Amino acid sequence: MASVFVTRRLPGRAVAMLEEAGHRVEVWPGELPPPPDELARALAGAEAAIVLLTDRIDAHLLAGATKLKVVANVAVGYDNIDVEAAAARGVWVTNTPGVLHETTADFTFTLLLAGARRVTVSERAARAGGWKTWSPTAFLGSDVHGATLGIVGMGQIGTAVARRARGFAMRILYTSRTRKLEIEAELGLEWRPLETLLAEADFVTLHVPLTPETRGLIGADALRRMKPGAYLVNTARGPLVDHQALVEALRSGHLGGAALDVTDPEPLPLDHPLWSFENVVITPHIASASERTRARMAEMAAANVLAVLAGREPPNAVARPQGSRKRT
Ligand code: NAP
Ligand code: GLV
Repeated sequence: MASVFVTRRLPGRAVAMLEEAGHRVEVWPGELPPPPDELARALAGAEAAIVLLTDRIDAHLLAGATKLKVVANVAVGYDNIDVEAAAARGVWVTNTPGVLHETTADFTFTLLLAGARRVTVSERAARAGGWKTWSPTAFLGSDVHGATLGIVGMGQIGTAVARRARGFAMRILYTSRTRKLEIEAELGLEWRPLETLLAEADFVTLHVPLTPETRGLIGADALRRMKPGAYLVNTARGPLVDHQALVEALRSGHLGGAALDVTDPEPLPLDHPLWSFENVVITPHIASASERTRARMAEMAAANVLAVLAGREPPNAVARPQGSRKRT
């Protein structure tokens, strides 16, 4: 029997799965993440942890977690975890690929459409009594069908977004670390270097992980390269975009708008200038938030923990203990 610390109440059967296997589970009861000292206390006594993207698992924390064997993130992105420090300390790190990309792609399209077709601003106006009559000039947006979409990062979510874009008869450009010739052929995609994609796309959507290479990828220079009137959609990570530069690109009227499920910081303070633009849609990091998908993510994290506690390799490792041999 092992001790497992879970940093928030989870949907689905994740906790039941751990308890049924005989493990002792402590669930942090708060609505907000455990503060760093509470997290350090809990991890110091745990063999396994299920954490969220709001929990920062750094080298200092790991140094005090001497019994810890696995940190299972309930997210596919794992920029909140120092994976090198974990590996050096003999700790597995796992994530949740393969269960959330369709749900996240659905939401990416929701945001793109909401921004392009002015859904949130017109709905707010109607609720406030601003719907006087059908008007030929009110709330005019941009067509999505037939427009050019630029996808930055052609991984699981980028590919799922491309499939949806085909249904909207969009021309689809993409850039990624490596070219994906099979997906290009299957979905009729055109590869472009980032600079060219930015210059050609009517909508640019971000699907790369947050790494030292991608932090600030969309800064003042990239925003200047975007087509006048183009839209930026970000459902990946806030720090991919320089928010000050984004505010300036919106203020100058160069960008048509932005639709952001992720910001830097999160939550975005209520006095942040991004809230003041009518052509900006901001949602509270909910792209994977369907009941089924969130349950599957949590259960996947539990399955990773169960594997490690049973002495097996976890199915979704992103960091393996140094010296452990990779299964071939
Ligand atoms: P993925 O399958 O790993 O795909 C990431 C893609 O980014 C890969 O194609 C990768 O290229 C490419 N890439 C990595 N570094 C790059 C760089 N420096 N320049 C250009 N391309 C680069 O990941 P995913 O499942 O699609 O998820 C992407 C990100 O979305 C996650 O990391 C997470 O941060 C975010 N996310 C957010 C939400 C939300 O709720 N808003 C939900 C899920 C995920 P290669 O194929 O060549 O490696
Ligand atoms: C959510 O942001 C994830 O990375 O799964």
